[in-house]
Amino acid sequence: MLIQILSLAQSKINAAVDIKQLQQIKVEFLGKQGVLTQEMKKLSALNEQERKIFGKEVNVIKQQIEELIVDKASILEEEELKERLIKERLDLTLPPKPLITGRMHPITQCTEELIQLFTSFGFTLKDGPNIEDDYHNFTALNMGINHPARQMHDTFYVEQGQKLLRTHTSPVQVRSMQVASPPYRFISVGRVYRADWDQTHTPMFHQIEGLVVDEQTNFGHLKSLLLQTIRTFFEQQICEIRFRPSFFPFTEPSAEVDIKLGDGARWLEVLGCGMVHPEVLKNANVDTEKYQGFAFGLGVERFAMLKYRIKDLRQFFDGDMRWLQHYSFLPFDIPTLAGGLTR
Ligand code: PHE
Repeated sequence: MLIQILSLAQSKINAAVDIKQLQQIKVEFLGKQGVLTQEMKKLSALNEQERKIFGKEVNVIKQQIEELIVDKASILEEEELKERLIKERLDLTLPPKPLITGRMHPITQCTEELIQLFTSFGFTLKDGPNIEDDYHNFTALNMGINHPARQMHDTFYVEQGQKLLRTHTSPVQVRSMQVASPPYRFISVGRVYRADWDQTHTPMFHQIEGLVVDEQTNFGHLKSLLLQTIRTFFEQQICEIRFRPSFFPFTEPSAEVDIKLGDGARWLEVLGCGMVHPEVLKNANVDTEKYQGFAFGLGVERFAMLKYRIKDLRQFFDGDMRWLQHYSFLPFDIPTLAGGLTR
């Protein structure tokens, strides 16, 4: 009987495939409700002589089973370890996975470069909504309802005749002047929207608006500020800068600035500017007897195209990973005047 128990235990132990099974076998034979414990209970029914012999036999069998289990456990543990070593093997000769970090879009980079420049001249940053109303985008800028200049802007309307996607950053001039008194010296950076699409136009693009209003501010200040800005931004690359007389309802006189990169290159228009029209100042409750000033609005994409030799403005927003890899910038490589603006 005991011998049968031993051989049964032996075959079960041999067949065990993992430690968990082995544990169950141990409970089955040696546990509190186990087979051998049941055998032990039979002792009380025996006389002293028989008890001695049977008790010894049970103990021997118990010991043997324990030994079998210990041996098997060490075999199984070793196997499991081997298996893990194979499975979790690391090939230290493999090249590391590339560290993927985000990169700065050239528009972000150029915007940062220009902000660095303007803040060094003492400008502060202002913000305004992308969804504007007709008043701030047009009327307050001296473009009444029937003003033909409204047709210069191919406006996206959100609500017919009322809410629209701002067509320029100039409404931020109006908003910022309304909530503070002069002198003013601020820039505003952001997205603007026009229904336009070709090599030098996208329906969304970025502008930086600048406004300076003070008692003595004149066109000479505007011109020297822009020349200095453009020369610093483009460093040695620039060939010629041209102020060309132009028209904007909100400035008088007005000019546009064109840049030529090299001999034989084409002129590219990069910004509009002028002395702020008295009507615009009046709309913002500025005393026009005392104050005057200039404003400018520059196209960030145009600046980026020229500086980083990007041929087609539409590519900025294609989301082509190869293009982005090539034209983007390292995130911690922040442009400063001291450390250098250009990468
Ligand atoms: N808002 C004008 C445009 O987007 C640019 C500009 C700004 C012109 C300020 C003059 C003064 O075309």
